[in-house]
Amino acid sequence: MSNDLTSILYLTSGILFVLAIRSLSSPETARVGNYLGMFGMFLAFLVTIVNLDNHHLINWILIVSGITIGATIGGILSKKVAMTDMPQMVAALNSMGGLSAVCVAWAAFLSPESFGLIYEDQIKVSSLIEMLLGILIGSITFSGSVIAFLKLQGTMTGAPVILPFRHLLNILLFCIFLIGAFSMFFEIQFNHTILFLIITILALSLGLLLIIPIGGADMPVVISMLNSYSGFAAAIIGFTLGNLALVITGALVGSSGAILSYIMCKAMNRSFIAVIMGGFGEESIGISSNENKPVKIGSADDASFILKNASSIIIVPGYGMAVARAQNALKEMTDKLKKMGIKVSFAIHPVAGRMPGHMNVLLAEADVSYDEIFELNEINSDFSQTDVAFVLGANDVTNPAAKNDPQSPIYGMPILEVENAKTVLFVKRSLGIGYAGIDNDLFYQENTMMLLSDAKKMTEEISSNL
Ligand code: TAP
Repeated sequence: MSNDLTSILYLTSGILFVLAIRSLSSPETARVGNYLGMFGMFLAFLVTIVNLDNHHLINWILIVSGITIGATIGGILSKKVAMTDMPQMVAALNSMGGLSAVCVAWAAFLSPESFGLIYEDQIKVSSLIEMLLGILIGSITFSGSVIAFLKLQGTMTGAPVILPFRHLLNILLFCIFLIGAFSMFFEIQFNHTILFLIITILALSLGLLLIIPIGGADMPVVISMLNSYSGFAAAIIGFTLGNLALVITGALVGSSGAILSYIMCKAMNRSFIAVIMGGFGEESIGISSNENKPVKIGSADDASFILKNASSIIIVPGYGMAVARAQNALKEMTDKLKKMGIKVSFAIHPVAGRMPGHMNVLLAEADVSYDEIFELNEINSDFSQTDVAFVLGANDVTNPAAKNDPQSPIYGMPILEVENAKTVLFVKRSLGIGYAGIDNDLFYQENTMMLLSDAKKMTEEISSNL
């Protein structure tokens, strides 16, 4: 295939990716977005295969086995994974992106002639820079994502692990990395393969040290940041491989991940720089105990009575709704309330659930109309004019400690101000904590009634009462 045609086809797949991302930004067009992305990827893959210099049988066997194994594992995992485990899945996929960049950089380093990276018997300086960047970003992405996966899976503690002098240690590791990298340019007499190995180990350790101090409540930002890193690693490796499609795709993933991280940082009132430096989450102290406070506990009957007599209701879904798969029961309940002439809206916090857009996806699945769903800043001021805030399996995203308690790990995060509603109904199984591991004083407030039950069971009971 001619170079021009290859470039045009790669560019076409790049445009398809841009359109895919654009379409994914709204639930109405997300399905089309997925198809556009799949088609773009298929096109890029086809052009790459057709352009292979070397059509040996062994190459084909390797390519087909790689695709078959990868597609089978990916297919099984994505079918099996629960919606609530999606962040772990994304972390695992990010780690694979990082590892691929490291592997390609190593392959190019060990066999530069096969990649056309030799100039006057030496690896080209530009190619060496690409390989070193690929190793640095790829390794940080890989080891950081493995730690994020283990934290989210609960295999290792979700609490921040704070090592003494960690910032100093990070800076030291980075400086040694830079010295190693410079030595390679200046041909210092040392076995380059060993140097490359040391550099890789340093970068892997850096990824580990950057993510270990980050606490569970900040994990969403970390996941999207690592996603962004994996994109940049792919883009850099695209230069090494001379593959335009990989450069475009990597840059798209890198920049969209960075934008998402920024948006999420703003939503959680975190500093973007602090996230990149892997430094926040350390302030997680001040967990209080509310065990002996008086609390109003109600039943499905009480809740139905209050809801029936309301003229406006705002529903706040959270992680518990996802766990209980209560979205369809909720839709049925809200349909009944609307038939009674009651105004029902849904309020979505940007980090409700366990991944960006988690609640939007679940509500879309239950056919809740998009114009009944509002973002935090669109609806927060409405709570004070609302009769009932119905909180279904949410906790941290309503916790006033984010406003009142500077010691709280969620301090500064904007919250849905449900406490301003005339009555707050909280559906959850216990008076226990949410993801950030802190008590919620709202459960003990005068206008709050706790409905201690599984989200689906309680919603179904209320619905049948209605
Ligand atoms: P959480 O604060 O985690 O609270 C969810 C509540 O749901 C829990 O307190 C739990 O209480 C309840 N629950 C669990 N299973 C339930 C069931 N079957 N039926 C009824 N209730 C159930 O959730 P949130 O308010 O949605 O806040 C999200 C939190 O996750 C934030 O801290 C956020 O930073 C973090 N996070 C978000 C993301 C993204 S990107 N969205 C990713 C990772 C982490 P009981 O045990 O008493 O039932």
